[in-house]
Amino acid sequence: AERTFVMVKPDGVQRGLIGDIVSRFEDRGLKMVGGKFMQIDEELAHDHYGEHEGKPFFEGLVDFITSGPVFAMVWEGQDATRQVRRMMGETDPAESAPGTIRGDYGLDLGRNVIHGSDHEDEGANEREIALFFDEDELVDYERVDETWLYE
Ligand code: GTP
Ligand code: MG
Repeated sequence: AERTFVMVKPDGVQRGLIGDIVSRFEDRGLKMVGGKFMQIDEELAHDHYGEHEGKPFFEGLVDFITSGPVFAMVWEGQDATRQVRRMMGETDPAESAPGTIRGDYGLDLGRNVIHGSDHEDEGANEREIALFFDEDELVDYERVDETWLYE
């Protein structure tokens, strides 16, 4: 099944939203196969957000993402990358529909609570998983409800 990289950003951690965010993905039927509570250093921030280097908001983005702990996760399931992005909402919380994570918890573009791999960027999920996790930190197992989640 497909895997995607997801991260509760420092604002989401500080606001106590880890549990709710994990619950949403669990309830949907996605399976957590990796999870790590950690602080991102400058180098990892640059690697992760390299595509935005040179943009006017880049420095603020790096400062923010390194400003406190994050909860990095890998979630697995059918069409996982795209489904997670749909559940997250738009990049800007102000444009995100109620019911989405950013639409329920955010107001400001620079404090949008969560990251998920871009499904329109081919291979971004695998690249980001490899950036944050060693192979032996990911766990292969079956969830008891899988026969009820998939035809
Ligand atoms: P991520 O999951 O964090 O990668 O968000 P995204 O994929 O929805 O958006 P994108 O990769 O385009 O931008 C990365 C992050 O940079 C966003 O989550 C925003 O926090 C921030 N960002 C993007 N565009 C702007 C902008 O125009 N202004 C500011 N201040 N921040 C921006
Ligand atoms: Mg992105």
